[in-house]
This record gives sequence, structure tokens and C-alpha cells, in this order.
Amino acid sequence: MTTPQSPAERPRIGVLVSGRGSNLQAILDAIASGELVAQVALVISSRRDAPALEIAAAHGVATRVIVPKDYPSRAEAGAEIVAALRQADVRLVALAGYKPILDASVTRAYPNGILNVHPSLLPAFAGGMAPRPQTEALTAGVKISGCTVHFVTEEVDAGPIIAQAAVPVLDDDTVESLSARILDEEHRLLPRVIGLALSGRLRIDDKRVVIG
Ligand code: GRF
Repeated sequence: MTTPQSPAERPRIGVLVSGRGSNLQAILDAIASGELVAQVALVISSRRDAPALEIAAAHGVATRVIVPKDYPSRAEAGAEIVAALRQADVRLVALAGYKPILDASVTRAYPNGILNVHPSLLPAFAGGMAPRPQTEALTAGVKISGCTVHFVTEEVDAGPIIAQAAVPVLDDDTVESLSARILDEEHRLLPRVIGLALSGRLRIDDKRVVIG
């Protein structure tokens, strides 16, 4: 029989945000329901006015605002992010609506330790923040879209894919209705994949990720 971990013993994750924070909320909800055994040790926002900061504060989660353009270079902003994550003893990082492109120093500091959720079935409609991928999916006329959780590497939206969830694209969809359908799946997928990554069950074989 396993002993349930006390909150303080749970694996510490960091969440990077830039906006609304619905994926952060989904992570916190999954922790509260016991579906995800983890603790959000730190939320870092690239914007001072991100609503996600209020979500973090409402849950008593420590926050930092690190605005890349306040630093002389992307590398220096990256160093600050790594220092903050290390200080918070973070083991795994989730990008949840984080807009800036991460400096390579951050991806190097957390090899296979940073996850991103993207609102398309990668490699289709890579690059660009919501709602660009959803808009491109509609314009391209695809019948199925969805979301992807992948490891973050130096190449944007090109790291090994861990999991995807598909949704139908309906004839009368707007960018808003398609985005909302995809977002529901993001909220399910991201906490699940964080749990898998923390469990150590993910094996990377070149571009393929296998759940052991
Ligand atoms: C999500 O659609 C995510 O896939 C994309 O940006 C959006 C963030 O939403 N990277 P939220 O801030 O988590 O509500």
C-alpha cells in the first residue's frame, strides 16, 4: 500500500503564462481533485497584467513577473527564469499560454523537462499563439483539429509530441467556437501529461515519445 504524499512532498512544477490562465486553472483543479499529484511551486508571467497571475494568487501560489523586454537580451531574461525556477526547486515546467520564445538557456537547463500545449494537431499549424493556429485550421478547411502537448526544444513547436486530442471542425464553426472546443481538450490533456511526465514513464526515442 502506498502512503499518500503530503502536499509538501509532492513534485514541484513551474507554470509559465502570459494571459488568461485557463490551463493554469485546469492544472490547479486537477491537483485539487487528486487527479494530478503535484504542487505548483511557482507561476512566472511574461506580462504584468496577465489574468493568470490572479488565478495563481487566489490559490496561494508564488508568482514572478519576468518581462523579457525589461532585460538587455533574451539570454538574460532566460537566466532570470532559470534562476527563479531553480530557487523554487521546480522539477518540471509547463508552458500554459506562454507567448515569448524561450531562450535556449532555459530549454538547456531543463532537458526534456519543459512541456507546451499548442492548439493544433502538430506539426500542422505550428508557430503563433492562439487564435492563429485555430484560424489557420479553419482557413485550410481541415475536418479535424485539436491540441498537442509536446516537449519544448529550441525549435518552436517542434519538440517530441507526447499526446494529442482531436476535435471535429464543424461546418458552422467560428474561430471562437473551434477554439473553445479545442480548449476543453487542452484542459484535460495538459494535467494528464504533466502527471505522466512526473511519473517518469515517458521514454523519448528520437522524435517518438513512448509511454512505458
Ligand atoms: C491555449 O489555447 C494554448 O494552447 C495556447 O494559448 C492558449 C492559452 O490559454 N498556447 P490560457 O491562457 O491557458 O487560457
